[in-house]
Formats: sequence, structure tokens, C-alpha cells
Amino acid sequence: MPSTLTLGTPLIHFDTVDSTNRAALRAASEDAAEGTLFVADAQTAGRGRHSREWYSPPGLGLYFSVLLHPKISALEANNLVLQSAVAVCDAIEELYDYAVGIKWPNDIYSGNRKLGGILLETTITGDTIENAVIGIGLNMRHSIEDFPVELRSEATSLKEVTGKDITDTLLIERILSIYGDYYYKREECGIDKWIKRCIHMKKQIKINHNGMVLQGSFSEVSPDLSFTLKDEFGHENKIEYGEISLDMEV
Ligand code: BTN
Repeated sequence: MPSTLTLGTPLIHFDTVDSTNRAALRAASEDAAEGTLFVADAQTAGRGRHSREWYSPPGLGLYFSVLLHPKISALEANNLVLQSAVAVCDAIEELYDYAVGIKWPNDIYSGNRKLGGILLETTITGDTIENAVIGIGLNMRHSIEDFPVELRSEATSLKEVTGKDITDTLLIERILSIYGDYYYKREECGIDKWIKRCIHMKKQIKINHNGMVLQGSFSEVSPDLSFTLKDEFGHENKIEYGEISLDMEV
């Protein structure tokens, strides 16, 4: 793989768009190039995991998506997720001199508050991922009162926790540069780097699994990001999908 390959060009900027992920998927259907970056000042229909809305007002958050043509098997999709989450943490730590962590599978956290999230959307032909859109939303400069009431106890922003206001452009550039190195395999980034960033390894978590709330210790994460939940009786459940809640102070 040539070392000159980079993510982030061409750049398509919107003052306002429905969702940068949707814009990227639309462009993918018109053969947009790998690495194309979609950035918006605000989103009217920003979306998160589990079909949730992603609150996207102007001036406060960072909203961007990068289009990839990874040509990997659908089973390897979570590689893209784990590497992007690690790249976001690496870039933040480097620029803000502040360590942040990952809540399974790809939420960016400071302590027990969410700083941002990543939404992977793909189009698949047969078993091959033709297009992958990595959408990243980060809370840059919100005060707690800027969040909707229901998020105020669980969200925070980089400005709030670090006191620093790094420009959006600089942070995007750094994230994409680090992620590009992982994606094009110029640098190793496997599950070990994700585990180092995880804020709840071997700690108690809860998960709604097939309609039941399960509780136990989070352990044994695999490269596909599935994990083992060990309950107090020693029973083990392999979990591949869902949303965990942290049953502890982190
Ligand atoms: C999550 O934590 O649920 C994932 C949130 C991902 C939000 C980003 S903002 C840029 C991109 N466009 C979207 O509509 N969503 C992602």
C-alpha cells in the first residue's frame, strides 16, 4: 500500500446538512472516492447508534464522516470501528494533553460522561463491504446547560473537561491522520490498543440482551469486539450487540 494514501480529501463542507453520514452514503452511490470527507457546521437529522438522534447544533460540536471502500469481509467491519475509536482517543490525548477512554463498543468517554460517538454505516455486496462511512460526533465546546436536559447528567464536552478550545480543523486532521495510518496498516492497531482505552475492563456492567437485563463483569473482548459477560454465579454470555450501562464509578 503506498504510504502517500491519506484520508480527508476531497473535502465537502456544509453549513447545514441532514446528516454527514447520509451525505457520504449518497455520494458513495455516485462513486465518490475513498477518503472523501464530509463536514457540517450543523446537522438537522444527525443520527446515532440504535437509531437515536444525535444532537447537532452549530458552534458547539464537531460532525464529520469519512467514506472508505475497504473491500473487506462484513465480519471484519468492527475492525473499522475499533481503529476509529482508538484514533479519536489518540488524537484527543495528543492535542489536549488529556486522556480519554472508550465505552464499548465505540463511545468516547471522560470519566463516566460521554464526549462523543462513532456511527459506522456500510453497504455490502455479497460478503464484501463496498462502502463504509465512519461518522464521528464530538462535543467540543458545550457547557452542561447547552445539552438537552435528558443528556445533562451523562454528557460533557472537551472544553468542559480540559478547559481548551482546539479548532475543529486541527482535531479532524489529527484524527484522520492517525486513523489513516491504522487503516492503511502503516501502524498496528488491534484489539490490544482498544483494551488499553476501555474504561470498564473487568468491571461490572449491565446490558439489555434479548429482552433481559444481564449484569456481570465485562471481560475477554475479541477482535470482532464481542465480549464475555461473567455473572456472579460464573455463568458466561457472549455478547455481540447492544448497549451497556456502567454499573460503577469510573
Ligand atoms: C453514537 O454515539 O450514537 C454515535 C454518534 C455519531 C454521530 C455522528 S455526527 C457525524 C455523523 N453524522 C451522523 O448523522 N452521525 C454521525
